Amino acid sequence: MMRPWTIVAASFLTAVVGVGAAAQTPTQTQTQIQMKTATGQTGSEACSGCHSEIYQSYSKTVMAKASGLAVDGLMTGEFNDNSSGVHYRVHKQDEHVWMHYERQSEKFRGQNELLYFIGSGRKGRSYLFSVQGFLFETPINWYSQEGRWGMTPAYFEAREIPLNLPAFTDCMNCHSSGPQPPLPGMENKFAGAPFTHAGITCQRCHGAGEGHGAGTAPILESDISNDSSSPNPSSSTSSGANSANANPSGARASSSDALGADSSMVNPAKLPPDRRDGICMECHFEGTVAVNQPGKRLYQFQPGERLSDYIHYFLLSGNQPETARALSQVEALSLSECKRRSGDKMWCGSCHDPHTEPAAEKKAAYYRGKCLNCHGEQFAVKHHPDKLDCTQCHMPALPSRDVAHTESTDHRILRYPNTLPLPRLQVRGTEGAPLVSFPDKDAPLATTRDFALAWETLAQKNVEGAAHRAEQYLRKAVAERPDDPVLLAALGFVEQKHGSEKEARELYERALQIDPLANEAATDLGILEARSGNLQRAVELWLGPFKRAPYRSAIGMNLAMAFCAAGQRQVAQKYVQQVLEFNPDYLKGKQLLAHLKEEPVQCKP
Ligand code: HEC
Ligand code: HEC
Ligand code: HEC
Ligand code: HEC
Ligand code: HEC
Ligand code: HEC
Ligand code: HEC
Repeated sequence: MMRPWTIVAASFLTAVVGVGAAAQTPTQTQTQIQMKTATGQTGSEACSGCHSEIYQSYSKTVMAKASGLAVDGLMTGEFNDNSSGVHYRVHKQDEHVWMHYERQSEKFRGQNELLYFIGSGRKGRSYLFSVQGFLFETPINWYSQEGRWGMTPAYFEAREIPLNLPAFTDCMNCHSSGPQPPLPGMENKFAGAPFTHAGITCQRCHGAGEGHGAGTAPILESDISNDSSSPNPSSSTSSGANSANANPSGARASSSDALGADSSMVNPAKLPPDRRDGICMECHFEGTVAVNQPGKRLYQFQPGERLSDYIHYFLLSGNQPETARALSQVEALSLSECKRRSGDKMWCGSCHDPHTEPAAEKKAAYYRGKCLNCHGEQFAVKHHPDKLDCTQCHMPALPSRDVAHTESTDHRILRYPNTLPLPRLQVRGTEGAPLVSFPDKDAPLATTRDFALAWETLAQKNVEGAAHRAEQYLRKAVAERPDDPVLLAALGFVEQKHGSEKEARELYERALQIDPLANEAATDLGILEARSGNLQRAVELWLGPFKRAPYRSAIGMNLAMAFCAAGQRQVAQKYVQQVLEFNPDYLKGKQLLAHLKEEPVQCKP
């Protein structure tokens, strides 16, 4: 009875530490409708009546169009993936969008309805679908430049179809607005829609602005009636503020003091530099690794707050970014001589107006103007006066092989252009290199917990030397914060790997006492229980995590093996079927199901 179990336990001993910027996502079909109607007051429309010019131009930007309903951003097509031998097809039927997959050789096929698109399509586009209310990313991407569908870069080599890639809230936090928290203990299932607004709304950079505009009503009205040259009234939307039709900039001219007192709306440019920069960083930077602060989630961050109260970012140093690589614009800019010498004066807003993207033919002049704001017209008179475009030499476009998340414009602003190709986005860093805070000045904020969880994340990615460092920091961090379930579970896993079962058990039990929904602790404690023959407790421990994360095939396989070992073949089959529901192309699952149907039954994948 123990033997088959032990073999499987060994092959499924997996633990993932809930570290990083991990957040969550997903959704259901019914939520689509909600999304269409919920946009009234809390999206960009709330600003359109008074700031109509900005509203119009902003809606054409890629940020405004960074996500939406799949039917509204459909790219149809099909392709063969050679690695997996699967034919994929994306098509529309009766206002529904489907991803269809088929492996002819085994008559294996299926389809999922695509609910949302992610990515404006300037470079590419990805989609999300749901299974039993859990939201997932498609393993395929639309590649705009090549005008074709293909596998997502991480799955170029995949032999099986990865259909169980959870769509975390992070993803929606960067690409949509009003991201919703997932249900308790879950990562990708939501009470309703996973987000309330397609694309990035004004409020993501300006805050909700309770009462903004409304309070200005009387002032504007009297200003306008006293001023015959006042701007034309435009049709006011909702909100009841009858002054909504005043042209704000016209108003500013006549009563700037009174209006300036309206501090309800965040203007990034007027914030202290760290709070200003945090607004763009939230979405334009990920670091080598990032650690959520205790009890905080990145999607709770509001413009005007300090980003470092929510998340701490780290880079692996010792890997000089001399060659062009997949740097975030934020990191790249921080390496530029311009930024180093200008300090806080320079930021993303020195060159970008988030409300508009300059038209192709105006780009050269537009960015030149930005350079010369600092470098001066005088300089340009003598420096390559025949060339209008400064960026062609100092900020060349570098080829990026990833559809997403790699830089394509070299924000290091090098003296000598560098045209080396960009490598794929990957864990950077040299062996044993230390982790450093980004930005540098946040170094004093970094905690033992940060380093423990950051190294643990890197250890999971097999960065050499990381496991050792993680252990050192984890021991210290648990001593400092004995009631932190994330730390307890992580240290438990370290002990488990060392074979110190007793210590591991205690740590997991403590983690579960504090947080009964600690999925990793429960899963791993279950493995210890199963190994010591206590299958019943193991099963009890696994049921919760499997219910909250049924796409984590290893847990379902563990359950199936346990029931098989206990002679309950039917129940075992039920769990494998559930595994396959979320991961239909999972070979081990298919094999176990076949073995469970054999006579005599075989408890092995
Ligand atoms: C009822 C009219 C009205 C509405 C609705 C409105 N605004 Fe304003 N807003 C104004 C006026 C008037 C000003 C002051 C004039 C100016 O500075 O341009 C202003 C100023 C601003 C400023 C500059 C604040 C500063 O301190 O520099 C921002 C940013 C802003 N609004 C954003 C928004 C956003 C975002 C929305 C939608 C959530 C919005 N506004 C909705 C009328 C409105
Ligand atoms: C809520 C997340 C979020 C915030 C906040 C944010 N961005 Fe973005 N930004 C994105 C995403 C996502 C894209 C890519 C959209 C796409 O193509 O699908 C993007 C694209 C851009 C682009 C590329 C435009 C182009 O023409 O290709 C620029 C420039 C940019 N952002 C600047 C900024 C600046 C400056 C700030 C801060 C003031 C900022 N962003 C804040 C998410 C964000
Ligand atoms: C930390 C914020 C962040 C997260 C998390 C994130 N993205 Fe992005 N994504 C961006 C930004 C910023 C860009 C634009 C990058 C650029 O052009 O340099 C982008 C670009 C893209 C693009 C290319 C869009 C285009 O046409 O320009 C796709 C597709 C995409 N992301 C999909 C996803 C998906 C799917 C997820 C989650 C599963 C995800 N991203 C998670 C910030 C993020
Ligand atoms: C990606 C971030 C971002 C988004 C999204 C965004 N803004 Fe802004 N907005 C800024 C920044 C940065 C400034 C400050 C610009 C400056 O003065 O350098 C600004 C300034 C403003 C101002 C005051 C100065 C001016 O230009 O009149 C208004 C009003 C404003 N935004 C309205 C809006 C409205 C309305 C929307 C949505 C339609 C919107 N913004 C979307 C970043 C953003
Ligand atoms: C916020 C001010 C600011 C802006 C905007 C700015 N720079 Fe700079 N830049 C500086 C400062 C300060 C230096 C260092 C002193 C110097 O060389 O003038 C510098 C240095 C440089 C250097 C020399 C780099 C080196 O390695 O020695 C180049 C090249 C350069 N800038 C190009 C540009 C270009 C091109 C743009 C526009 C796309 C631009 N800068 C925009 C402030 C700025
Ligand atoms: C010195 C000027 C300058 C500064 C400062 C700057 N950018 Fe850019 N950025 C550019 C130029 C030039 C492009 C290329 C625009 C194009 O080709 O359409 C660009 C392009 C982008 C793009 C589109 C994708 C790409 O890489 O081509 C994003 C996203 C972006 N910048 C984000 C940022 C963010 C975030 C910051 C602040 C950390 C920032 N930029 C600061 C000049 C600048
Ligand atoms: C044809 C390519 C080319 C163009 C266009 C160009 N640069 Fe340069 N730039 C260079 C090269 C090469 C150097 C380094 C050699 C040198 O110092 O002249 C340089 C040097 C610089 C420096 C450092 C100067 C110093 O004395 O340290 C700055 C600042 C700079 N460029 C800014 C600009 C700005 C701003 C523009 C647009 C007005 C621009 N460049 C256009 C090629 C170019």
